[in-house]
Amino acid sequence: MMKLAAFAAALSLSLPAAAGGISSATLFQNRCAECHGKDGKTPTAKGRALGAPSLTARAHEVSEVERILAEGKGKMAPLRMKLSDEQITAVADYVITRL
Ligand code: HEC
Repeated sequence: MMKLAAFAAALSLSLPAAAGGISSATLFQNRCAECHGKDGKTPTAKGRALGAPSLTARAHEVSEVERILAEGKGKMAPLRMKLSDEQITAVADYVITRL
């Protein structure tokens, strides 16, 4: 019994911190880099054709970025159907704090 408990504890410790989720950096690369560039500052040819700006060109609030992601803006389609609320918050936070 003790052995089993220790094994279960070891097993849960070995799970990644964000079990089941993917990191905000990965989300950005998968969902945003296509237009805004890997660094978020150098729009790709596709992004430039649509009019995507550098994401550091002006200051944003996390709540503003969340709204833009959920509802879309101009030629950028809404992502509400593709990303969960948590993913939208995570990637908005990434844009504000990590770019
Ligand atoms: C299909 C290309 C495309 C993808 C993918 C895309 N965007 Fe955009 N994004 C745009 C375009 C185009 C604009 C400019 C919209 C406008 O102002 O008309 C924009 C605007 C924005 C703005 C507003 C910038 C400003 O200064 O007003 C933010 C913030 C933003 N995108 C974040 C993201 C994030 C985060 C992702 C990934 C979850 C993402 N975008 C994915 C094309 C894209």
